[in-house]
Amino acid sequence: MNVEGKNYRTIWLKEDDETIISIIDQRYLPHKFIIEDLHSVNEVVQAIKDMHVRGAGLIGATAGYGMYLAAIEAGHKNSFDDHLNESAFRLKSARPTAVNPELAVNRQLDAIVKGKTTSEKIKIAKETAVMIADEDAAFCKSIGLHGVKIIERIAAKKKDEPVNILTHCNAGWLAFVDYGSATAPIYEAHERGINVHVWVDETRPRNQGAGLTAWELLNHGVPHTVITDNAGGHLMQHGLADLVITGADRVTRAGDAANKIGTYLKALAAHDNRIPFYVALPSSTFDWNIRDGLEEIKVEERSADEVKYVEGLCEDEIKKVLITPLQSAASNYGFDVTPARLITGLITERGVCKAAEEYISNLFPGKNMYV
Ligand code: MRU
Repeated sequence: MNVEGKNYRTIWLKEDDETIISIIDQRYLPHKFIIEDLHSVNEVVQAIKDMHVRGAGLIGATAGYGMYLAAIEAGHKNSFDDHLNESAFRLKSARPTAVNPELAVNRQLDAIVKGKTTSEKIKIAKETAVMIADEDAAFCKSIGLHGVKIIERIAAKKKDEPVNILTHCNAGWLAFVDYGSATAPIYEAHERGINVHVWVDETRPRNQGAGLTAWELLNHGVPHTVITDNAGGHLMQHGLADLVITGADRVTRAGDAANKIGTYLKALAAHDNRIPFYVALPSSTFDWNIRDGLEEIKVEERSADEVKYVEGLCEDEIKKVLITPLQSAASNYGFDVTPARLITGLITERGVCKAAEEYISNLFPGKNMYV
């Protein structure tokens, strides 16, 4: 996508050395645009844990590339399989809530085992990593084409008034390889000349909305306004939001959706105000093995320091400041689960469907892993 007129993906193989993975280091956005090179599985695991890369689709693609580096490293070890399996475990568990890394790593393991020699295994791992990344971008592009129809319908009723869309966190292109999930229909609508305006939840504690979504939208010239996390309900009560679109990190086969903490409260407010609430996701974010999101999705808890300190630009330097009493305890649940009953529909690469098992399995026949 567009960064000051240049087209970027969030992850790619370094042009002059394809044993190195390049990423946009998202810790410094929106203030600094820094590209980081990852040379080893250790560095990839750290980049996922410390959120140099983040967002379900992107950490899935990164884990896929991590397995390619694991295969290269395994070629120098006594046991190829031991190193591969140990790396697989570390990549899957670096951030537990999103299902995408698990899926990417399992797909790599299934593919790599087919190689007969070490070099064949490495070649397969590289091709599979690229395939996972390309597929992620293609899925997001299709999500845009399906989701834009929802925006078009609302625009037709609003005549010349903007369609006001509220989004939470960053489910934009930075959270994937390209396009984004929640933002893809918005970019598509903007390109088609539809008058859209986005309410961007700042999304404490790490402010992915204020820092990342706002930066993306700015680069694409999409009108937007950053709001505090608590403002959404008020906007909805006053007719200032027409639609909510969020992303997801893990969606059960029955349509319960785990997403960034605070999503559930937006869904409750949307329900109370009869505002459509959509969740956009590629099929790589479905966990076909589970039904009950509240019971079965493990919510990541992160460091209390993310709550106690905020980071921002001060006299051209990125600084971290304490906002609570130093001694106060803080808790940091990364995600919450929105029950399917509060979701108007799921926007996927195959189309839009109701958030219910019957409709999801009609769209994705054969995904019957649940026992
Ligand atoms: O903690 P993050 O930034 O990795 O969280 C992921 C998210 O950005 C959101 O939950 C998003 O809406 C879904 S990821 C496509």
